[in-house]
Amino acid sequence: MQHAHRLSVAPMMDWTDRHCRYFHRLMTRRAMLYTEMVTAPAVIHGPRDRLLGFSPEEHPVALQLGGSDPAELAQAVRIARDWNYDEINLNVGCPSDRVQSGCFGAVLMERPGLVADCVAAMIAESPVPVTVKCRIGVDEQVPEQVLPAFIETVASAGVRHFVIHARKAWLQGLSPKENREIPPLDYPLVMAMKRAFPHLTICINGGITSLGQARALLDQGLDGVMVGRAAYHDPASVLIGADALWGEAFAPSPFEVVHQMVPYIARHLESGGRLHQITRHMLGLFTGRPGARSWRRALSEGASRPGAGLALIESALAEVQATGTAAA
Ligand SMILES: Cc1cc2nc3c(=O)[nH]c(=O)nc-3n(C[C@H](O)[C@H](O)[C@H](O)COP(=O)(O)O)c2cc1C
Repeated sequence: MQHAHRLSVAPMMDWTDRHCRYFHRLMTRRAMLYTEMVTAPAVIHGPRDRLLGFSPEEHPVALQLGGSDPAELAQAVRIARDWNYDEINLNVGCPSDRVQSGCFGAVLMERPGLVADCVAAMIAESPVPVTVKCRIGVDEQVPEQVLPAFIETVASAGVRHFVIHARKAWLQGLSPKENREIPPLDYPLVMAMKRAFPHLTICINGGITSLGQARALLDQGLDGVMVGRAAYHDPASVLIGADALWGEAFAPSPFEVVHQMVPYIARHLESGGRLHQITRHMLGLFTGRPGARSWRRALSEGASRPGAGLALIESALAEVQATGTAAA
């Protein structure tokens, strides 16, 4: 079966919120979309509707949780059931200090037994698959040794699906941003994990910037490709046409995507939301196409002004169209 993970959009804090996912969904009907990470304590004690709510159109959607306390994670999964996510993912890859201080994220690469306890507790409460997103190792760990051991331990607790960000995280000395850029990518090691664990679903993440590259990795036997930054910054190139990976022709134009966003934005404005909360995710829509700069400028300068509304979108779109006509 060709499942939703052939392509997915990565969990990205502050980026892949519900508005961003709704926008991405207009470009691909198939790709799995991940939420931002939500910590288990936030789900338990925080404003649940704001943290967990999403539009039904966004399916399939995976909720990413952060945490390292099995009971808390189980409780968060139990609470999240009411929102009908299609998958629950545990974050074992995020290196930020804030996350480390709570002992979760990438630091858990050093505690496979604890991760196994966490996922076992989550699986017991979850009607949908529980998956893990991890690194190939942290700090001085030897990835060739720790990664297969980690997968084996966590799989023995019932996880069938891993997303592997194909680089180490350095827990001290590098910022989260540097930790997405400086440690070298090791795709062959991820490939080796698929060969070593052929019964598991193994998805690769890190540095993938095009559909062609995604297809090549799938052709090499991986089960899925997760794209982060490229999908956010250049969504049209990465997501429009992605459904061909499932043999489907769906491929709207970026203009159609904007038109389809309009009713969604109108509802958001009517309920008291601000234009910028949605359009900030749309700045890259015309990346690499005529009018990209005027679109980005019009939205980024205009959308936070008081009273900014749909007229701004219409005028920005007209500018893009005019640029396109002039270029043709
Ligand atoms: C702004 C930003 C926020 C991120 N937040 C998360 C997060 O909440 N959880 C997570 O597992 N990874 C997070 N990541 C890492 C991405 O999911 C992904 O693993 C990483 O960017 C590498 O993929 P890429 O090269 O395709 O961007 C974040 C990345 C970025 C750029």
